[in-house]
Amino acid sequence: MQKLKINKNLVEKILELKRKRNAVILVHNYQIDEVQDIADYIGDSLELSRTASKTNADVIVFCGVRFMAETASILCPDKLVLMPDINAGCPMADMITRNELKVLKKEHPRATVVAYVNTSAEVKAEIDICCTSGNAVKVIKSLKDAAEIIFVPDKYLGHYVSTKVNRSLILWDGYCPVHAKILSEHITRQRKAHPEAKVIVHPECAPQVIKLADEALSTSGMCKYAKLSGASEIIVGTEHGMLHRLRKENPEKRFYPLSEQAVCNDMKLTTLEKVLWCLEDMKYEVKVPEDIQIKAKRAVDRMLEVL
Ligand code: 13P
Ligand code: SF4
Repeated sequence: MQKLKINKNLVEKILELKRKRNAVILVHNYQIDEVQDIADYIGDSLELSRTASKTNADVIVFCGVRFMAETASILCPDKLVLMPDINAGCPMADMITRNELKVLKKEHPRATVVAYVNTSAEVKAEIDICCTSGNAVKVIKSLKDAAEIIFVPDKYLGHYVSTKVNRSLILWDGYCPVHAKILSEHITRQRKAHPEAKVIVHPECAPQVIKLADEALSTSGMCKYAKLSGASEIIVGTEHGMLHRLRKENPEKRFYPLSEQAVCNDMKLTTLEKVLWCLEDMKYEVKVPEDIQIKAKRAVDRMLEVL
């Protein structure tokens, strides 16, 4: 009861300041429950990029991780992009640097270069086109004339896409440490416990996990599936925060996590208090330097053109 009351005051203050600053609050599907509940827009990386590119707000408060806020800054260089906790990064995005990518490009000079949105702005400045888990298959299909394709940094998403488009890709040895905690034995165990349930997993999971699932979907793809499929019980193989939105939007259905271990600590750094301080102090700003922003924007815009 006490917690509810504190949250109510905090939420009122956040909403009041948000109006005063003409700010919009964008929230990723993995954020903690209370932060999800104050979102103007909640979604996956693709939806949040699209929303950022179209917003009329002066200030974007990005509740997610750094590469997401950077993508908003790349798309809207004239807006003030703020993160409530500047330390929220993505370990997978840190698995490839701009220099490492330059070396890889030299080894494959004819290759078209695709990077998952989970990369730094510097890496995006070196690529031909970006993709998210929601459009990776479409992006690779749009490159049918490419002699070779480099795909960085997620080897598991890259492997998944290559099976969908039936062509091999030059992969990097990156992966998401959170999704790597989801194992095929978890599917076996949960299918036994819930024999009627469907299993959905994120394409950042390892190939042997995806193989045993019914569907591999982006986080917002999971929301659509939960709403539209006839399944009344769904086992969910992704970061734990996803369950809040799924349960909230589908109170009549039952959702079970594949693994309780799949928690992204970076996604949990943002709290309601930090959102309030962020609007009070107008920090922490995420600003991509202009030379990088211009180059990276070409790759992100090209992605947004792919339907
Ligand atoms: P989505 O684009 O599917 O939300 O994924 C982002 C992410 O970081 C998954 O780990
Ligand atoms: Fe990065 Fe994985 Fe966390 Fe997503 S869940 S932000 S890919 S570490």
